[in-house]
Amino acid sequence: MTQHPTRADAVALDLASPLRARRELFALPDGVVYLDGNSLGALPRAVAPRLQQVVAEEWGTGLISSWNTADWVGLGRRVGDRIAPLIGVAPGDVHVGDSTTVTLFKTFVAASRLRPGRRVVVLEPTTFPTDGYVAAGVARMLDLELRWCDPADPAASLDEDVALLSLTHVDFRSGAMYDLAALTAAAHDAGALVQWDLCHSTGAVPVALLDADADIAVGCTYKYLNGGPGSPAFAWVHPRHQAAWDQPVTGWFGHSRPFDMDRAFTPADGIARMASGTPPVLALSALDAALDVFDGVSLDVLRAASLSLTDLFLELVNARLGSAFEVITPREHGRRGSQVSLRHEQAYGVVQALVERGVVGDFRTPDVARFGFAPLYVTHADVFDAVGHLVAVLEGDEHLRPEYTVRNAVT
Ligand SMILES: Cc1ncc(COP(=O)(O)O)c(C=O)c1O
Repeated sequence: MTQHPTRADAVALDLASPLRARRELFALPDGVVYLDGNSLGALPRAVAPRLQQVVAEEWGTGLISSWNTADWVGLGRRVGDRIAPLIGVAPGDVHVGDSTTVTLFKTFVAASRLRPGRRVVVLEPTTFPTDGYVAAGVARMLDLELRWCDPADPAASLDEDVALLSLTHVDFRSGAMYDLAALTAAAHDAGALVQWDLCHSTGAVPVALLDADADIAVGCTYKYLNGGPGSPAFAWVHPRHQAAWDQPVTGWFGHSRPFDMDRAFTPADGIARMASGTPPVLALSALDAALDVFDGVSLDVLRAASLSLTDLFLELVNARLGSAFEVITPREHGRRGSQVSLRHEQAYGVVQALVERGVVGDFRTPDVARFGFAPLYVTHADVFDAVGHLVAVLEGDEHLRPEYTVRNAVT
């Protein structure tokens, strides 16, 4: 096997990292190397005390008055304002409240309504399934046509019939990243709008939606934003579209004056019209506290740390595992998100055997082992140890254990 960095080299990189103190902000269990923050982010220490305070004081003591006194009504907007700098947009333009899937339903419909006369929605066939399912449901409802593009060249599917190009910025399976600015420009050249699913980008990869002049973005908050299981998704709509934005779940929280109890629906101004029903106050509070870990972190520093981790992982896998795996994540920095995906015939067994050893990644069908590198809490020493366990798993044929032929409900 070729020369490769040692554990001491990895520790030296950690000591030199401007983010080295951030890991202490997370309550990670001892002995666990957590490489699944691209699926469910780790728990920031600030979350439990905040939830305790919201439950005991705001809910328990304040009761219903907390809608006003604790400004529960404005919580979604305040959380959106904290996400805004992470995606390169202005405060006041980000809504937080529903699941990603429900948010996508609203954005697909509203975006299509902004381009009447155009009937085609373009998606990449490798998109996360929920994006495709929702797009298909909306297409059936509005009599639109879905067009699956070549994932390697989405722009080739654009023409004068396309209302919306909807792409996942970082692919959930391979970790490949699209050129957000170039594809936004291509969509606009064709007269189409563009929507970006930022689930696998936000909090790990810098995103500059306004600079790129994008139209719409959605993203979840339970991955690199560490909001907790099922924490609400965000949506951003460029201010130029907000006045005409007509989303289909016209509920009372999206009304301009909900407590007038009018019979007629008058949408609120701006992004507030994305709201539908009562906001999930506990989940939003957890997310609000979780976002503290990003205070004072520059996106460039975050990106440099992420690339340093994935570079080291790739180098070690290459040097120590040779051709045991096919690396399906692009090696070019410009095309890589914050995860590395390895293809292996027994990928499920590999992931399970690693979990058994305290190295948590995950499996995506049919044959991909995914490793996410959340730059605020994953260290280079973690990376070194993870690859060491990977070598041991294969050497000991641990991935071939019969119990791994049966898959868990969540893989
Ligand atoms: C790219 C992408 N879009 C959407 C979703 C899921 O949406 P929801 O938050 O509604 O489960 C995921 C979940 O992992 C995802 O990776």
